[in-house]
Amino acid sequence: MRSLSLLLLHLVVTLANATSYKDCQFKIKESIVAPPRGWVEHAPAPPNHILELRIALPQPYFPLLEKHLWEVSDPTHKRYGDYLSKEETEVFLAPYPHTVDTVSEWLASYGIYEEHLFRSSAQDWVTARVPVSLAEEMLDTKYHIYRHSETDEYIVRTTSYSLPEVLHEHIQFIQPTTMFARFKAFKSTMHWTTAPSITPTCLRQLYNAVGYETSATNGNQIGITGYLEQYVNNDDLQQFFETYAPAACGSNYTLVSINGGQNNQSVAAAGEEADLDSQYAFGLTYPTPGTFYTTAGSPPFDPDARTPNNTNEPYSYWLEYVLSAENLPQTISTSYGDDEQTVPESYANRVCTGFAALGTRGVSITFSSGDIGVGDGDSNPETQKCFSNDGRNATMFIPAFPAACPYVTTVGGTAYIPETAASFSSGGFSNYFSRPSYQDEAVSEYLSKLPPGTYEGLYNPDGRAYPDVSAQSEWFMIAYQGKFTYIGGTSASSPTFASIISMLNDARISAGKKSLGFLNPWLYSVGYAGLNDITTGNNPGCGTEGFNATTGWDPVTGLGTPNFEKLKDLALQLP
Ligand SMILES: *[C@@H]1O[C@H](CO)[C@@H](O)[C@H](O)[C@H]1NC(C)=O
Ligand SMILES: *[C@@H]1O[C@H](CO)[C@@H](O)[C@H](O)[C@H]1NC(C)=O
Ligand SMILES: *[C@@H]1O[C@H](CO)[C@@H](O)[C@H](O)[C@H]1NC(C)=O
Ligand SMILES: *[C@@H]1O[C@H](CO)[C@@H](O)[C@H](O)[C@H]1NC(C)=O
Ligand SMILES: *[C@@H]1O[C@H](CO)[C@@H](O)[C@H](O)[C@H]1NC(C)=O
Repeated sequence: MRSLSLLLLHLVVTLANATSYKDCQFKIKESIVAPPRGWVEHAPAPPNHILELRIALPQPYFPLLEKHLWEVSDPTHKRYGDYLSKEETEVFLAPYPHTVDTVSEWLASYGIYEEHLFRSSAQDWVTARVPVSLAEEMLDTKYHIYRHSETDEYIVRTTSYSLPEVLHEHIQFIQPTTMFARFKAFKSTMHWTTAPSITPTCLRQLYNAVGYETSATNGNQIGITGYLEQYVNNDDLQQFFETYAPAACGSNYTLVSINGGQNNQSVAAAGEEADLDSQYAFGLTYPTPGTFYTTAGSPPFDPDARTPNNTNEPYSYWLEYVLSAENLPQTISTSYGDDEQTVPESYANRVCTGFAALGTRGVSITFSSGDIGVGDGDSNPETQKCFSNDGRNATMFIPAFPAACPYVTTVGGTAYIPETAASFSSGGFSNYFSRPSYQDEAVSEYLSKLPPGTYEGLYNPDGRAYPDVSAQSEWFMIAYQGKFTYIGGTSASSPTFASIISMLNDARISAGKKSLGFLNPWLYSVGYAGLNDITTGNNPGCGTEGFNATTGWDPVTGLGTPNFEKLKDLALQLP
């Protein structure tokens, strides 16, 4: 029971702050010139619509965490593999205590107390559910319903919000406000009945992993993320195993539900993306224990029929969950993303630091690079849509997020045997993140070979360049809603590459070594020797022919596709 003195204290604090914050000078915290292409203002937001406000508190110790990341993932460093515990990473993600108190006082001044809040394990996120009317008062803004003209989705957002000036240093950002990203699944469906098909057996042959047996019990695990109501259909999984991975027949995965994520088993609810990812990752690595994370992006709707669909971003929820877990899969694959420019830079930075934290815990994270070449996949200058969203409406290549985060391993797509770049394989250069030192040499070399002036102004040559690696991405045979069908996209490449990495982690763990953790420093310095360099093909888009795959790293296929046995030899040579 709450003591009387606490109640009194509450009252005093509330009264004090009622004046101290509401009458403060508000200053714009974040704003965008206009919503990203496709989103159109539809109507004012209903005042009683509930928003789940996610308040990100600054992480002043992140530079220390990053230093740990570089040390524990650098194969030449004496601390290689010396991963941090959950508690240790949380110390580096935590805000200043003074920040936590100040934000609590501000919330209390609007009648939002501790019992209404949800805090992340590291205290770096505060979540509060408030009606639009109150959010508008707190953020001195006006929310609207926006409609997407192509997909007919509705979301509640604003293009600008403000905070009392004294709070600016204590709050990194608040969402949902200016974030319009949709984080699509990077898959494209194909129903070509006479095509050659990719299967787990074929991938094991192509990537030189025939006969390697993983352990069910050495502690190695693999994880797959699912968003946007993408559900693994268990019958589809078994049907796939029966035909294409018979050893795995009858095996199962662990389901982890985050933020109320479902795994609806109705045939109609089967997700192509979730089916693809689980069938390949779990089929290729069986009997390695598999986990499927199903993360909902939206809190329950207001029972008002006109309430639009709420699509809160899901990554911060997923990160909050995994970073608070003690035991994590050593390899995790994600096949979702969106145009970098639809993601506010503050949010992109924040989510990217979460991936860095996973790296310090020894997790190898892979992401699909995207399916639009250098942008929009459309090489017809009349119809391509590669324009900046910063008010300049400048023509430019369109990088993807989280593909362009420097703390993840990004996987592009190849096709055919012998392998060549898939034309849709996205690749390029971030406009938010600068080039990390691990790829300095490889990327400079690529850039130095480009004819002078190539695509000047269309991309940022100093940005984080991606993809890092690649894998097959077309004609993957999957079981979907009870039938076999083909599917493609870099969505297929990420779980494929992750499966090879999971087998490497398996080999290292069985040899009494640590998992590989964040892969890029190793891949760019040593691991590339265990990859097949892909040197043909290109990734057209934005009215151009895109970049060419070349000898060495390139922004279409990265350093190349895996040769498991060679990679295993290299990985086992590491301490
Ligand atoms: C919005 O939500 C409704 C009700 O849950 C659902 O039927 C509809 O398909 C959703 N629309 C989109 C575009 O997600
Ligand atoms: C496999 O696991 C899923 C998720 O926990 C569960 O719904 C399903 O019933 C399990 N299937 C079998 C055959 O045990
Ligand atoms: C499961 O999915 C089906 C098909 O989309 C839908 O009709 C049903 O309402 C869903 N069930 C739940 C509990 O959401
Ligand atoms: C941006 O420029 C392109 C090409 O000139 C044009 O088609 C498009 O409508 C412009 N978009 C905006 C938002 O001004
Ligand atoms: C790609 O290769 C073609 C053929 O060699 C060449 O004409 C073109 O300039 C190259 N493009 C880039 C961006 O390197």
